[in-house]
Amino acid sequence: MSILAIDAGTTGVTAVVVSDVGTIVAKGYEEFRQHFPRPGWVEHAPEEIWQATIEATRQVLREVDAAELTGVGLTNQRETVVLWDRETLGSPRRAIVWQDRRTAEICTRMREAGHEDRVAELTGLRLDPYFSGTKLVWLAEQEPHTWAHVESGRYAVGTVDSYLIARMTRGVHHVTDVSNASRTLLFDLAEGTWSEELCGIFGVPPDALPEIVPSWGEIATTDAASFCGLSLPIAGIAGDQQSALFGQTCFDEGDSKCTYGTGSFILTNTGSTVQRSEAGLLSTAAWRSPDGEMTYALEGAIFVTGAAVQWLRDGLQIVGSAAETAAIAATVDHTDGVVFVPALTGLGAPHWDPQARGLLIGLTRGTTRAHVVRATLEAIAFEVRDVLETMPVEGEPRPLRVDGGAAANDLLCQVQADQVGVPVERPEIVETTALGAAFLAGLGTGVWSSTDQLRDTWSLDRRFEPASDRSAADAAHTRWLAAVERSKGWADL
Ligand code: G3P
Repeated sequence: MSILAIDAGTTGVTAVVVSDVGTIVAKGYEEFRQHFPRPGWVEHAPEEIWQATIEATRQVLREVDAAELTGVGLTNQRETVVLWDRETLGSPRRAIVWQDRRTAEICTRMREAGHEDRVAELTGLRLDPYFSGTKLVWLAEQEPHTWAHVESGRYAVGTVDSYLIARMTRGVHHVTDVSNASRTLLFDLAEGTWSEELCGIFGVPPDALPEIVPSWGEIATTDAASFCGLSLPIAGIAGDQQSALFGQTCFDEGDSKCTYGTGSFILTNTGSTVQRSEAGLLSTAAWRSPDGEMTYALEGAIFVTGAAVQWLRDGLQIVGSAAETAAIAATVDHTDGVVFVPALTGLGAPHWDPQARGLLIGLTRGTTRAHVVRATLEAIAFEVRDVLETMPVEGEPRPLRVDGGAAANDLLCQVQADQVGVPVERPEIVETTALGAAFLAGLGTGVWSSTDQLRDTWSLDRRFEPASDRSAADAAHTRWLAAVERSKGWADL
């Protein structure tokens, strides 16, 4: 018995097969193109996401016997909006990605119209281009011919999970789960349903939206002709950050994790209550059980962390791969005063400034590539510290569980521990996002019968202790905060 888990992330799709003892027995990965039609805009071609999903799945099917698979778990980049034709499943335009900043002005306009407080009260979010709602407003305003088909019912509206499920089931299912729905600005967080009031504010026809289903259970069945010859129950869905929270077995109130992906996301389980933050954290749905029980989380969303390393590789071209950054950064003991604020798509939590832009400061004639690479890794750790400092903590601070691609970077984990002042714990499996989707689908198909059983599968790879003297870490962090202030509002100038 094993589970196929698909993690459709921002830069590529990972497929893994997870055994019934919680180990990864096969892995496939396929990157897809990033489209940047204008500064600050980020788009994905839905068809390219789908083809990457098929290719990653084919890679794992070369290594495992498909007859062993009992179900599919799906996790995905959140907030990104996709339109598709319900009949042909083709998309009339590219998806607008969560990182896209084109709706900053729409957010300002809606704020000026007095919507912010009510939207925040209902959704737990804020009016920021990050979320799906204003991206849909933009589509309705800028592409009325396309939007007319949304209103007529021909085009479906969804996030990447609902799009991929439509593709996997040949259009039979149009569904999502609470973790994805709660990122759209259209979802009533306390009620756990789409909100008519919010659909009215954002001008979205409720019929265009997917049905909200439990996070695990028998949700749909894949169509063999469409999906690599597989006819399997889709038995788990979660947005990638909530999936990682599940994969880290953060089932108890107060459990926290940090996932280093394209961005980095710190989530703390807040149990069955919606907790609110005055300090820039988001309230969000974590998952909903088949019997309707909701679990919530507080989230600090940082937009650009791994994407900054990707930019060093593809934009600046000063590293050949993300993997070599630890070794390059370790050739210097410090950045020699260089600070990099990777606000390449504005700043998320806790600063929230869509008009902030990236800043590299403190350069001298002595600055080398190693200083810039080290400054990039340090920036990730500073950003996570800024979020954690705003997270309410009851009792003794607990260790921070980390995962995601960059968790493999020892230097980053050590700098992270030094910055946050608590131990950083790295599990043996850092593909925790995909693991969470496998856990959900495994619960949904009876591979595992309880979360307690899942907890037993978590094992520690390495624990990074913080330096006892915090003065160097604090001095570097103070310089970082000064640089952050300088990066704010730049796109407005
Ligand atoms: O909210 C955006 C998030 O879901 C994207 O995650 O892992 O693709 O950076 P990732």
